[in-house]
Amino acid sequence: MLISMKHTLKEAREKGYCVPALGIGNEHNLRACLSAAEEKRSPVILLVMYGNNPDIEYFGRIATDLARRAAVPVSVILDHGAKYEHAVSAIRAGFTDVMIDCSSLPYEENAAQVKEVVKAAHAVGVGVEAELGHVGSGSAGTEMNGEGAGDSVFTVPAEAVSFVEETQIDALAVSIGTAHGAYRGTPKLQFDLLRELREKVQVPLVLHGGSGTGDENLAKACRMGICKLNIAYDLYRGGIDHLLAHDVSGNGAYGLYRLLGQGIQEAAEHAVEICGSAGRA
Ligand code: CO
Ligand code: CO
Repeated sequence: MLISMKHTLKEAREKGYCVPALGIGNEHNLRACLSAAEEKRSPVILLVMYGNNPDIEYFGRIATDLARRAAVPVSVILDHGAKYEHAVSAIRAGFTDVMIDCSSLPYEENAAQVKEVVKAAHAVGVGVEAELGHVGSGSAGTEMNGEGAGDSVFTVPAEAVSFVEETQIDALAVSIGTAHGAYRGTPKLQFDLLRELREKVQVPLVLHGGSGTGDENLAKACRMGICKLNIAYDLYRGGIDHLLAHDVSGNGAYGLYRLLGQGIQEAAEHAVEICGSAGRA
């Protein structure tokens, strides 16, 4: 069932669990993630990012078509849309939700851009996620929208409250100590900050950069109010590790996509366990 994350996140927030948001880039890992969600009876959000697929509008149609046929609630969101045009093309491709990430900009400019996207998206029932504070990149080579490493800025609760009121977004990505991609150094999540954000902010909270943060930390964050946990790197890692653990010499090469898919599905099922979303669909 294809459904905006507005609905699944609202229920997750009320009942105290988290919906896994899984990074996909082609039909193979898309199917692996849907199999994981169906196997675990979990709602799921699929993350599609510009740059991970050569034709995001076409891929959006594939993703939403498969999502419609799934036995569990599935949302398809544009991840880290960098500008208005990205958001609108995703909406045209049938995405249920869009993230507009202007978190590198000063507060006022960020809010102004987000408001424009919200106006267009809400006109057609599409949900919007935006980011305040800034989740940086864990290591070189995984830069998002051109930003460099080590540039995370924690979310300020008072600003988060006014940002949500002003922009009317449906979900807020917060920065509490994670980083995108492979983590460098020891992750230290700011749980006191998360508690304060959960108390004060009236929309579901999103955590990006979950990979490498540690299962315990992530599960705790999900229990404390993170309603959408973005996982991409760990899925790709799972696929590659599973592939490398098998003999792909000779005709073993034909196993490429099957082996990748199995590794990704396993990692996706693990993400469902961390989120506490198994059996919620
Ligand atoms: Co992200
Ligand atoms: Co195997």
